[in-house]
Amino acid sequence: MPDKTNRRWLIAKPAGSELSDANFRWVEGPVPSPGEGELLVRNRWYSFDPTQRFLLGRGESTDAESGAIPPGDVMRGLAISEVVESRHPGFQAGDVIHSQAGWEDYTVTDGTGFAPAYRVPEGVTPSWALGALGLTGLAAYFGVTEVARPTPGETFVISGAAGGVGSIAVQLAKLQGLRVIGIAGGPAKCDWLRTEAGVDGTIDHRREDVGARLRELCPDGIDIFFDNDGGPTLDLALERLRSKGRVVLCGGTSHYALTPPPPGPANLLALVMVNGRMEGLLARDYLPRLPEAVRAMLPLLRSGRLKSKEDVVVGLRNAPAALARLYAGANVGKQLLRMDGEADAPAGGSGPPPARRGSD
Ligand SMILES: NC(=O)c1ccc[n+]([C@@H]2O[C@H](COP(=O)([O-])OP(=O)(O)OC[C@H]3O[C@@H](n4cnc5c(N)ncnc54)[C@H](OP(=O)(O)O)[C@@H]3O)[C@@H](O)[C@H]2O)c1
Repeated sequence: MPDKTNRRWLIAKPAGSELSDANFRWVEGPVPSPGEGELLVRNRWYSFDPTQRFLLGRGESTDAESGAIPPGDVMRGLAISEVVESRHPGFQAGDVIHSQAGWEDYTVTDGTGFAPAYRVPEGVTPSWALGALGLTGLAAYFGVTEVARPTPGETFVISGAAGGVGSIAVQLAKLQGLRVIGIAGGPAKCDWLRTEAGVDGTIDHRREDVGARLRELCPDGIDIFFDNDGGPTLDLALERLRSKGRVVLCGGTSHYALTPPPPGPANLLALVMVNGRMEGLLARDYLPRLPEAVRAMLPLLRSGRLKSKEDVVVGLRNAPAALARLYAGANVGKQLLRMDGEADAPAGGSGPPPARRGSD
C-alpha cells in the first residue's frame, strides 16, 4: 500500500500526574507490510480504559517490566479493525476483528497480545464490540451474574456507575431484580442513571457525603458492592456490608494515577464480621465465554432493554484527549473513538443491522 500514509501516536514521556497530548508524539510515515503469520489491519474504532495509563509508565520513568511501552513506540489500545491483507491462516482480507492495535491508521499484528484477535460476532456494531459486548461488557456481565451471586431483592451498590462498565452493570443488576444504588461524579451522570438506566438511587460523590448517603439509601446495609474506583468508597461500602455480603473488585481508578499506590482498605476486617467475600474479576479470562454473553445481551441491546451509553470522540488526533477524559471524569458511558471518516455502521459478518443501535 505504497501511496497511503500511516498517522501514528507514539509515546513521548511517562504520564506523571496529568495526562495530555504532551505524553504523545504525532508522526506520519509509510504503511507497513505484514510478514509471514501477520495481518495488516486498518483501524476503525478504539476503546479507552483507565488502565491504559500504565502503558505510559508510572512516575518519572517507564518500567518495561510493568508493561509500559518504551518512549518512541506506538501507543496502543483495544480496537475494531478491518483486515486489509492477511498472511495469517486464521484471518482473511475483509474480516472485522477485535484486537489490540496501535493508535494509528494501519497496524501490523500477529493477533496475539493482551486480548488475542477474534472476529467480531455477526450483527454486533463496532461500538458494542468494544463496549457492552466487549471486555467492558464481560466485566459487567460476569461480575454481576456470577461473581456477585445475586438474589432478587438484594441491595447492589456500585462505584463508577455511569462509566463503561458501570453503565452496563447497573442495568444488568436491575434485570436481576436487585435494588441498585449508583455512585458517580456529577449531576449529569446521576440524572442518566436515574432516568435512563432506572437505578433506585444515586450518590454524587463530588457533591455529597458518600458515607452519609449510603446510610440513608441502604439503612439495612449492602449485599453486593461492585467496585470500579477503589479507595475511600471501598472502605465506606465495607463498613455497611451485610451478612454474607459480596464485594466484586473490578477496578481501582482512584489508585491508577497515584505513585506509589495507596495502602489497601482500612476496613478489610469488616469481611470477617459478616462472613463476607471479596473477589477479583478479570474480564480477559472470560473471553472464551464471549458467545454466551453475546447471546444473553445482544437481544437486550436490540430491544432497547439494555442501553449502550456511549461517549464517542471522533478522529485519531483526539486519542490522547479521549484517554484524558476518563481521568477528568468527563465521559458518560463507554469512552470510544471513531476514526475520521468512519461511518457508524454495523460490523461483524453479514448479518442484518440491529433494529436499534441503543447509543441514546
Ligand atoms: N477487571 C476487569 O477485567 C476490567 C475490565 C474493564 C474495566 N476494568 C476497570 O473498571 C473500572 C471502570 O472502567 P471503565 O472503562 O468503565 O472506566 P469509566 O468508569 O468509563 O471511566 C473512568 C471513570 O472513573 C472515574 N474517575 C476518574 N478519576 C478518578 C479518580 N481519581 N478517582 C475515582 N474515580 C475516578 C470517573 O467517573 P466519576 O466521574 O463517576 O467518578 C471516570 O469517568 C476501571 O478501574 C477499569 O480499569 C476492569
